[in-house]
Amino acid sequence: MKILLTNGADELKKAMEARHSVRAFRDEPIHGEIRKALDALADEINRESGLHIRIRYDDPAGFDSRLAHYGSFRQVHDYIILAGPASMDLDKACGYYGEQLVLLAQMLGLNTCWAALTFNRRQVKNLLEPGEKLCMVIALGFGEKQGVPHRGKKPEDLTDTLEGKPDWFIQGLEAACLAPTAVNQQKFLFTLQGDVPKGRTRGIGTCLKVDLGIAALHFEIGSGKPVRI
Ligand SMILES: Cc1cc2nc3c(=O)[nH]c(=O)nc-3n(C[C@H](O)[C@H](O)[C@H](O)COP(=O)(O)O)c2cc1C
Repeated sequence: MKILLTNGADELKKAMEARHSVRAFRDEPIHGEIRKALDALADEINRESGLHIRIRYDDPAGFDSRLAHYGSFRQVHDYIILAGPASMDLDKACGYYGEQLVLLAQMLGLNTCWAALTFNRRQVKNLLEPGEKLCMVIALGFGEKQGVPHRGKKPEDLTDTLEGKPDWFIQGLEAACLAPTAVNQQKFLFTLQGDVPKGRTRGIGTCLKVDLGIAALHFEIGSGKPVRI
């Protein structure tokens, strides 16, 4: 897997820090230039990964369900569909590449929220092509607010020990701490084998492999090194 965002590391780190889940959006359409940039990255991701990610604009039906309202989603008119061939193991790749779209959206002035559960799954599934399966979606739009930082784990909670670890590894862990995870569970662990960083899921939970893909992207941006997952 590969980082396709062309922004510098500082800009990407700022976007990771500024990103928080936002579920209520203003009634403001996403206009041409922003659409072009998001669609271009989605196309590049699909070429690189074999996924079939696309963005639905002006389609409130995807978040029009009791579950979505219960999950406090408001005025979601645009969303990213994370999907791919039914034969493919989608989760880690959807996490890794979906988060690249999330960070690009953040840098373009938009807000996002991953959604595995609280959206209209039946409606979105109707949009799939034959032979495809749905991983999940990401709500997109101009947020009413910018969200708040999640409370979460510290770098030392995400590895075996910090002792003797190089600075770049710790910077990777700090960036992984900022990653969104389903129900804020952060069930992953990064270790160093020789000088190769590795990431894996820990324990049981929901959407662990998607979370790991997201966290691995953050780790790579923070550390500047590719991580094996
Ligand atoms: C894989 C995944 C699935 C998620 N599913 C939902 C969901 O169904 N409904 C929801 O309201 N939030 C969902 N979230 C958002 C998380 O609750 C949120 O990322 C987490 O609480 C951390 O907060 P933050 O994103 O503001 O840092 C999901 C996040 C991830 C990464």
